[in-house]
Amino acid sequence: MFSLTGKTALVTGGSSGIGLAVVRRFVAAGASVIVADLATTPALEQTGAAFSALDVTDEKRVAETFEAVEAKSGKLDILVNNAGIALQEGPLDETDIGVLQRTLEVNLLGVLFGLKHGPRHMKDGGSIINTASLAAHAVMPEYTAYSVSKAGVLKLTQQAALELSSRAIRVNAVCPGTTTTPMEPDDSAESRLCRYLTAAGRPGQPEEQAAVFHFLASDDSSYVNAQAINVDGGWVYGLNARHMEKLLA
Ligand code: NAI
Repeated sequence: MFSLTGKTALVTGGSSGIGLAVVRRFVAAGASVIVADLATTPALEQTGAAFSALDVTDEKRVAETFEAVEAKSGKLDILVNNAGIALQEGPLDETDIGVLQRTLEVNLLGVLFGLKHGPRHMKDGGSIINTASLAAHAVMPEYTAYSVSKAGVLKLTQQAALELSSRAIRVNAVCPGTTTTPMEPDDSAESRLCRYLTAAGRPGQPEEQAAVFHFLASDDSSYVNAQAINVDGGWVYGLNARHMEKLLA
C-alpha cells in the first residue's frame, strides 16, 4: 500500500522543512528522489536523494533542470512544487511592492514554471502536488502577498489538473496549516495561536504533512484530482472548544 517503488520524484524546496520530510518519506517508500533547491543541507545529504541547485524563479534553469533530470533518470512519475517563502509583511495600505513581487515570483511563478516545464518530462499517469497553504483559504491580517500567492497556487492546481487530464496526470494541492519548520518556528505567533485556532491544539509537524503528500503521490489516490487538501489541524473551521469556553466565561 502507498508503495512508490520504481517511481522517480522531483521535489523543489526539498532541502528543509516540509519538503525535506516529503523527501524522507518518498525515499522510505521506495522512490528515487531528486531535490531542486537553492542549496543542499547536511540533513538532505543523509536521505540518499540526489540534489540539483535551482532557483525556481529562473524559468530557463527550471526548463534545463527537467531536461537534465530526464536525461539522467528518465521521465518523472511525481513532481512536488513545494519551494516557497514567507517574508515579513505589513498592513495592506503599506504594501511593499518589492516584497509582493518577490513573494509572487517564488510562490506563484515558481509553481507555474514547474507546471509549464515539468509535465513534458513526466510519464502519463503521474502525480503533481503543489504546496499551497492554509493562507489560501483563511485570512490573516498583514499577510496579503503570501495569501494571494497561495490562493493563486490553488487556481493553478485546478487549471493544470484539467489540462493534463488527457495524459491522466493528476494535480492536487496540499494546504498546510502552521507547521514547525525554519519558516515557522515553535515560538512564532502563528504557532502559539494554534493552541486556540486548531482542533488539534498545536502546530503540525513536517512528517504529518509528508504523510499526505505520500498518499497523493501514490497510485492509491488515483481518484483524487484537482483538490486542495487542508492539513491544518482544523484551523479553517474556527476556534476550538477550550478557547470558546474562555471567551464565553
Ligand atoms: P522552509 O523554509 O523550511 O523550506 C522552504 C524551502 O524552499 C527551503 O529549502 C528553501 O531553500 C527553498 N526555497 C526558497 N526559495 C527558493 C527558490 N527561489 N528556489 C528554490 N528553492 C527555494 O519552509 P517550509 O515551512 O518547509 O515551507 C515549505 C512550503 O510549505 C512553502 O511553500 C511554504 O509556503 C508552505 N507552507 C508552510 C507552512 C508552515 O507553517 N511551515 C504553512 C503553509 C504553507
